[in-house]
Amino acid sequence: MPFFGLAVAVLLFFSSPTSSCTEQERSSLINFIDGLVPGGNGGLNVSWVNGTDCCKWEGIVCSTDEVVTYVLLASKGLKGVISPSLGNLAGLLHLNLSHNSLGGSLPTELLFSRSIVVLDVSFNRLTGHLQELQSANPGLPLQVLNVSSNLFTEKFPSTAWEAMKNLVALNASNNSFTGQIPSYICINAPSFAMLDLGYNQFRGNIPPGLGSCSTLKVLKAGHNDLSGALPDKLFNATSLEELSLPNNALQGALDGSLLVKLSSLAVLNLGSTGLSGKIPDSIGQLRKLEELHLDNNNMSGELPSALDNCTNLTYITLRNNSFTGDLSKINFTVLDLRIADFSMNLFNGTIPESIYSCSNLMALRLAYNSFHGQFSPSIGNLRSLTFLSLTNNSFTNLTNTLQMLKGCKNLTTLLIGTNFKDETIPQDETINGFENLQVLTIDACPLVGEIPFWISKLRKLMMIDLSCNQLTGPVPSWISGLHFLFFLDISRNRLTGSIPTALMKMPMLLSENNAAKLDTRFLELPVFWTPSRQYRSIIAFPKVLNLGNNNFTGAISPEIGQLKMLDYLNLSSNGLTGEIPQQICNLTNLQMLDLSDNQLTGAIPSALSDLHFLSGFDVSNNQLEGPVPSGGQFHTFSNSSYSGNPKLCGPILSLNCTSTATDQTSTSRWRNKRFGLVIGIISGGLTALGLLACFLIAKLVYDDHTESLVLLQRRY
Ligand SMILES: *[C@@H]1O[C@H](CO)[C@@H](O)[C@H](O)[C@H]1NC(C)=O
Ligand SMILES: *[C@@H]1O[C@H](CO)[C@@H](O)[C@H](O)[C@H]1NC(C)=O
Ligand SMILES: *[C@@H]1O[C@H](CO)[C@@H](O)[C@H](O)[C@H]1NC(C)=O
Ligand SMILES: *[C@@H]1O[C@H](CO)[C@@H](O)[C@H](O)[C@H]1NC(C)=O
Ligand SMILES: *[C@@H]1O[C@H](CO)[C@@H](O)[C@H](O)[C@H]1NC(C)=O
Ligand SMILES: *[C@@H]1O[C@H](CO)[C@@H](O)[C@H](O)[C@H]1NC(C)=O
Ligand SMILES: *[C@@H]1O[C@H](CO)[C@@H](O)[C@H](O)[C@H]1NC(C)=O
Ligand SMILES: *[C@@H]1O[C@H](CO)[C@@H](O)[C@H](O)[C@H]1NC(C)=O
Ligand SMILES: *[C@@H]1O[C@H](CO)[C@@H](O)[C@H](O)[C@H]1NC(C)=O
Ligand SMILES: *[C@@H]1O[C@H](CO)[C@@H](O)[C@H](O)[C@H]1NC(C)=O
Ligand SMILES: *[C@@H]1O[C@H](CO)[C@@H](O)[C@H](O)[C@H]1NC(C)=O
Ligand SMILES: *[C@@H]1O[C@H](CO)[C@@H](O)[C@H](O)[C@H]1NC(C)=O
Repeated sequence: MPFFGLAVAVLLFFSSPTSSCTEQERSSLINFIDGLVPGGNGGLNVSWVNGTDCCKWEGIVCSTDEVVTYVLLASKGLKGVISPSLGNLAGLLHLNLSHNSLGGSLPTELLFSRSIVVLDVSFNRLTGHLQELQSANPGLPLQVLNVSSNLFTEKFPSTAWEAMKNLVALNASNNSFTGQIPSYICINAPSFAMLDLGYNQFRGNIPPGLGSCSTLKVLKAGHNDLSGALPDKLFNATSLEELSLPNNALQGALDGSLLVKLSSLAVLNLGSTGLSGKIPDSIGQLRKLEELHLDNNNMSGELPSALDNCTNLTYITLRNNSFTGDLSKINFTVLDLRIADFSMNLFNGTIPESIYSCSNLMALRLAYNSFHGQFSPSIGNLRSLTFLSLTNNSFTNLTNTLQMLKGCKNLTTLLIGTNFKDETIPQDETINGFENLQVLTIDACPLVGEIPFWISKLRKLMMIDLSCNQLTGPVPSWISGLHFLFFLDISRNRLTGSIPTALMKMPMLLSENNAAKLDTRFLELPVFWTPSRQYRSIIAFPKVLNLGNNNFTGAISPEIGQLKMLDYLNLSSNGLTGEIPQQICNLTNLQMLDLSDNQLTGAIPSALSDLHFLSGFDVSNNQLEGPVPSGGQFHTFSNSSYSGNPKLCGPILSLNCTSTATDQTSTSRWRNKRFGLVIGIISGGLTALGLLACFLIAKLVYDDHTESLVLLQRRY
């Protein structure tokens, strides 16, 4: 063996070039790999062998004179700590350890290295704080520092930056840094161009000193606890191309005379900051503006017509402010909008014809305003339109609206409820097109008429909401032919007949395999369920059958048990009779079951307590009898879930079950079952913990969900 080892060493010695990395470099690197946990070295140990030329090791790049200059180990699955020994690599210029699972602290030897120019440790689990520089320093070479998406805490350094005279880019976003934004971050750095401090816990004012960063192009500090007004001096940073400070508690208005100084601005994001006042006319001088986000503020007044001078504008959101007036002051012809959200304001008037010339417009939300009128055939020019929300305005002529919109072939999401007051839902067979429609809401108009046949031709439909209308007639049997439908809300209508068995055959509700075929793409704009709850993709919505508050009669078919994917089932406030089928206990995903206000008889199936995700249950006001289920989720339901059923009995009800022998056995059977469950959870170990977590999440989702249904928030 020793001879063999020697032979290899000799071979390596002769086969490698005359020079190689130094012994010190080699051991610095070996020390680094020694800081990683077993199994967390990403297989580096295969090539990183002590005694061989480290310039040939995986991820190491040397200069022509064999000095280690690059250590490129991003996304290697590294776990463990970063050894300070890397600081001994005297010629190291570029260290990239991003996208690993490294913990511990960032060694000061690296942060204040006298050689490193680019240091990227983003997307790891580094903790602790970044040190201040202890001693005065003539200047460090660091140009790029990316410590983003780690677990850093505590006060962000303030003086350390004074030594970084070459700093160009600093990304510290997505950590838990506290304290103030350092005032003089660029004081000594004449080329400082990018600062991202978003998603931290920075407090205090935006330092006016940032205004002297004359080469600063990107300033992002959104999602912090910053307060105060935008300092006047900030607008002296005239190279800014992106200013993003969303989700802070700022105040004051946009000063037009200052804003105009930022003539290079392409992105202005001051959403959810509490800003007030008008959009200044001078915004029209920001000719390079591409994105304007002023959503969720306290802004008011009319939109300046000069906005149409921003001919590069592609994204505008003014959602949730108090803007007034009519959009026709703006000549949309000259804009090339892709995404526009004007929802939740006080806009009125009709939709300006010029908006139809934005042929690249993909998403338009006008919901919750006072727009009125009808659409012109030119809306068909919006060939790229995929998302349109008109909810809660005073638009008229649903037939016409659908006729006009069918020209928008790419439409996937159409939210038009709370309009078309008291109109009749068109039965018109000529309503066709919409071949890509996935979401359709026409709720709360209210509309009269029957559920129309043209809906059966919307082959890609996943969600339909026709709730809160005055629709009559039966649920059509073609419903099961909509192969992607998983959300059906027809509650609060005057529908009659029995619950059709077609509903029990809806493919998306039958099996996981079918549901896997659903489109997972992100929506151009999120769909809001409540102002605080939004969905970015359609598949994130729960699987829902809501037939509540109609005039349905007859029994609940045992076939209901086939809808294994169902999250929410509401059959309340109908005239349903017969027993609750045992098969309902097969709906293992169910989070909410509401059968209240019917004429159901018989017992409540005891196996309902096996539904681990059930967090809402209501059978009140029926004619049920016998014991209420116990165990599982049932300890969380109060007696109001059962009220109005005088023959139900159980520990939380006024009627004792102990009066008969059969009830006795059923109770003790439950006890055994509960005991079994406890044992199951203990032996289930981690799996059970996972299950508990799932349940908690499910419960949160559910709580919000019910709230919205109870409050009857409209989707928009
Ligand atoms: C690497 O090998 C050298 C001898 O070639 C030895 O002196 C040194 O301690 C080793 N380094 C490590 C980190 O094992
Ligand atoms: C580090 O590597 C990742 C993954 O290859 C890359 O995305 C990132 O840009 C690199 N960082 C720097 C500063 O070049
Ligand atoms: C870290 O930030 C630098 C500077 O912006 C950037 O070049 C690099 O790509 C970022 N790293 C990752 C992994 O995104
Ligand atoms: C900073 O890093 C985060 C990821 O950690 C990234 O999302 C963000 O875009 C980066 N900022 C800039 C300005 O590149
Ligand atoms: C924030 O960091 C976490 C953990 O590294 C990561 O999963 C997440 O994507 C990051 N968020 C952003 C916006 O980059
Ligand atoms: C902005 O810079 C100009 C000179 O470039 C200077 O005269 C002015 O006082 C500065 N404004 C503020 C608010 O500091
Ligand atoms: C919004 O502005 C109005 C006056 O326009 C003011 O009365 C109100 O207090 C402001 N709301 C907030 C949250 O600042
Ligand atoms: C809107 O702009 C277009 C193109 O510049 C122009 O032809 C049209 O006359 C303008 N419309 C109005 C109402 O100003
Ligand atoms: C319509 O959607 C398809 C598929 O997403 C896309 O390829 C096409 O470019 C879109 N058409 C327009 C006019 O945007
Ligand atoms: C609705 O629009 C259609 C054209 O699509 C028209 O024939 C009808 O008269 C309009 N109805 C009303 C009430 O305006
Ligand atoms: C079920 O539907 C009825 C009628 O629409 C409604 O009042 C009730 O709140 C719904 N139940 C739940 C739990 O959402
Ligand atoms: C139920 O029976 C128990 C004894 O088994 C008794 O203590 C309790 O008072 C009874 N409750 C009611 C409401 O009758």
